[in-house]
Amino acid sequence: MPHTARRLVLVLGFMCFGLMVAIRATGTIDSQAQGPGGDGLPTPDLQKQYEYVDLDLPAHFTTPRGLNERNARAVSRGNPAGGGRGSQAARGGGNQAGGGRGSQAARGGGNQAAGGRGGQAAGGQIRGDVVSLDNTPADNPVTNAGATLGRVLFYDVRLSANNTVACASCHQQAYSFSDPRKLSVGLDGQATTRNAMSLANARFNGSGRFFWDERAATLEQQVLMPIQGRVEMNMPLAELEAKLAQTNFYPALFKAAFGDTAITRDRIARALAQFVRSLVSANSEFDRALLGERRGEQVLSELEQLGRTLFDGRRDGRPRALPCSQCHRTAVQVAAIRGGGRGGRGSGMNIGLESTPVDQGSGGGRFRPPSLRNVAVTGPYMHDGRFATLEEVIDHYSEGMQPSRTLDQRLRDGLEGAPFRFDLNKMEKAALVAFLKTLTDDRFLKDPKYSDPFAGAR
Ligand code: HEC
Ligand code: HEC
Repeated sequence: MPHTARRLVLVLGFMCFGLMVAIRATGTIDSQAQGPGGDGLPTPDLQKQYEYVDLDLPAHFTTPRGLNERNARAVSRGNPAGGGRGSQAARGGGNQAGGGRGSQAARGGGNQAAGGRGGQAAGGQIRGDVVSLDNTPADNPVTNAGATLGRVLFYDVRLSANNTVACASCHQQAYSFSDPRKLSVGLDGQATTRNAMSLANARFNGSGRFFWDERAATLEQQVLMPIQGRVEMNMPLAELEAKLAQTNFYPALFKAAFGDTAITRDRIARALAQFVRSLVSANSEFDRALLGERRGEQVLSELEQLGRTLFDGRRDGRPRALPCSQCHRTAVQVAAIRGGGRGGRGSGMNIGLESTPVDQGSGGGRFRPPSLRNVAVTGPYMHDGRFATLEEVIDHYSEGMQPSRTLDQRLRDGLEGAPFRFDLNKMEKAALVAFLKTLTDDRFLKDPKYSDPFAGAR
């Protein structure tokens, strides 16, 4: 009797094991019913497939920098590369701009201004070429399967040691993948040391270096840092690889993205970087205005238009124009020119937040600002989240800058001078805020292809 019982247990045991193996081996993502992922945590819903590769970029993203509107139109007519499809076109554009007169002119303009030509803003930087700033490396182009896997990883709490924090906890889509909190909170309730910046158009961060202080040399390196960070997710990569392999859906996602089911830190990094690079925002009111202009339409209101003119370094009847677009360049308002800014020293700048910087940033209180896309929803502002509103930011540039040894020359009164008092009037301040609000891209903030694939299960 005990013998038969033991055999029954054995047979039952084998059946159970066999069933488990069968489930594991199918490896397909059961997207119909979001059950547990083999570990009690939810599986992603990937029923809808999205396009991450063919970015339909507007023409002003591909306009060689430094050219004015009339020349730009001539160039885009004669140059099919202006179609701007993903990284291929970006690379082509990059080479072209790199060799061309346009890019030289822009760099010259920047240096000249930095050299303190009495501080008159050169202007026109808002039209610079965007795609030539693309930091996509040749060996990790965005693919649909790669970005899809990256999206799942980005929203998965499994990436944190105690399954409570995902990348998206601190980079929320509704806030352009920034954090509405001044400082973010990691897995054990500890606060980060800086404000989580927006990830929109991180792809066009021309320096290719990441974080406010640019300490990550590439995006592929950056994305693994919060996973291992003690405050953020505290997850050793070897443990993460094993943890993801135990789910019933990741092996298939890695296979789709990289050809086989192996789950490695390198592939995790690549997929996350692909998803982050897919976060391209190109449908703001400001974009519609630039497109409309080509057809002679006026999209912006008078006030917004005034703000745009001011931002871009033109200020009629006033002693000195604003240098905003010299630091927040091109149609996506990013800091750096390709290669990392002046002399390759990075693109960090000190804007006079304090005389003796508390946080040194990349040195001397220098920081690289993220793209100003969607800036109306990315507050609080600056690396420490010190300003709650755009009005406060504008007040700072107008009359709040503090003297500092490392204050950027574009913000000084003369080469070595005190912070320049731009003393914007009420109308000018309102206009700048109105302009910054035209950079909001509602489609981007709600686009389902960037949304939480686990949402249904939470
Ligand atoms: C606990 C909050 C938190 C989590 C979780 C988190 N981040 Fe961040 N992230 C931040 C903060 C804060 C910064 C700015 C830190 C700094 O510059 O020192 C940042 C910066 C970044 C940047 C730099 C952007 C730029 O323009 O330089 C990227 C990219 C990024 N995070 C991606 C991710 C990814 C991918 C994940 C998930 C693997 C993730 N983050 C998880 C808080 C977080
Ligand atoms: C000398 C370069 C420079 C100039 C000129 C400049 N900025 Fe900035 N801007 C920066 C840097 C650097 C930061 C980030 C600083 C920090 O966090 O310490 C920043 C941050 C910002 C932010 C907050 C971004 C965020 O996500 O937190 C806004 C908004 C902004 N700038 C708007 C403007 C406007 C408007 C002007 C013109 C009046 C302007 N900037 C002129 C370099 C510059």
